[in-house]
Amino acid sequence: MIITIANQKGGVGKTTTALNVSAALAFSGKNTLLVDTDPQANCTISLIKEIDKDAKSLYDVMVKNDVSIDDVIVKSTVPGLDIAVSKISMAKLEPSLLGEIDAHFRLRDILETVKEKYNYIIIDTPPTLGLITINALVAAEGIIIPIQSSYLCLEGTDDLLETIEKVKKVANTNIEILGVLITLFDKRTNLSKDVAKRIKSVFGEKVFKNVISKSVKLEESPAYKESIFTFAPRSVGSIQYKKVAREIINREKKK
Ligand SMILES: Nc1ncnc2c1ncn2[C@@H]1O[C@H](COP(=O)(O)OP(=O)(O)O)[C@@H](O)[C@H]1O
Ligand SMILES: [Mg+2]
Repeated sequence: MIITIANQKGGVGKTTTALNVSAALAFSGKNTLLVDTDPQANCTISLIKEIDKDAKSLYDVMVKNDVSIDDVIVKSTVPGLDIAVSKISMAKLEPSLLGEIDAHFRLRDILETVKEKYNYIIIDTPPTLGLITINALVAAEGIIIPIQSSYLCLEGTDDLLETIEKVKKVANTNIEILGVLITLFDKRTNLSKDVAKRIKSVFGEKVFKNVISKSVKLEESPAYKESIFTFAPRSVGSIQYKKVAREIINREKKK
């Protein structure tokens, strides 16, 4: 199953979710590919030991005919988890594909060639609703929307939902919101609880039962090039992301 992690807001936990959910799936025996489409390349930097600065990246695959996705797939520090690497050059994607008739379909067509090899493909996206995110939505079967439990958390979700609807209508009738994940939750504050209630009133059953709490360990683990499961296996973040991965597997089975 191809799952895109999307929310055009920055700092809501997309990358943290993409890499820890991918790692959880890999640890539970699922062959997983994490596709980093963000020019910031946070997934790539966080889970690859030695980054070859001259190597090609997803940008080259999406723009050039003679580069295949296999050329940019690298083993991560997590056993069973591969990463299709990103680089800052991804920021040039939009101008590079200007006028190309299949600009929105490139990632879907590329992933078609490796889909058979993986149980799960997880796509991390940049904080925009531009061409990169559209490609990730067109390629997706399920969407996970991380929402930070903060005062203005729902600001902008209308635009995201509208974009998803448009993609569904025009390019990909298969997509569905697989789940909404409440992130950066702080159970000590009333605000967090209020916000979680509000998110549930908007998204209902789509909201995952498990939330992700604010946790220093989750913030630290990328600096050590590890997922939360080896960095702090007994931490709250580790337990919560494992449970969310379980929910994802169950929801996918139901589909
Ligand atoms: N549950 C969490 N607890 C503490 N810090 C978090 C948590 N989730 C994310 N962060 C931190 O917040 C920042 C933004 O998260 P990130 O996953 O990069 O968001 P996005 O990809 O949506 O921009 C990062 O520094 C990350 O380490
Ligand atoms: Mg990110």
